[in-house]
Amino acid sequence: MSATQEIPWDELWAAARQASAGAYAPYSNLSVGAAALADDGRMVSGCNVENASYGLTLCAECGLVGDLHRSGGGRLVAVAVTDGDGNPLTPCGRCRQLLYEAGGASCLVNETHTVGRLLPGAFGPDDLP
Ligand code: THU
Repeated sequence: MSATQEIPWDELWAAARQASAGAYAPYSNLSVGAAALADDGRMVSGCNVENASYGLTLCAECGLVGDLHRSGGGRLVAVAVTDGDGNPLTPCGRCRQLLYEAGGASCLVNETHTVGRLLPGAFGPDDLP
């Protein structure tokens, strides 16, 4: 799937919402789901997984990136992140970095943004010696 092809946002939102149903979020009570289109056309997803040691919480985007690599790798083209009611959620700072690694600056986020816009001046693979 090239970036110029139509992004199936309706499917991504539905998949993200469905993924949120698997969330383990007993501390925040915020169930989050993320779904993405990979550059080969397949869909990947993840949900947040909290921990009694709060700082160890895994965001939905962490699971999403894990699913990308587990299911064959490639690059993220477009990502949707939502709560359990279907309300879009903006990725947290750490997850913006994860999305930058897996999709680059051009990766679309929640229809209206790109990773490059959410994380300007990002440090990434090209900055390593
Ligand atoms: N959360 C995500 O899953 N992704 C984000 O980008 C923002 C925050 C989760 C982490 C935690 O389980 C809950 O939302 C409240 O912060």
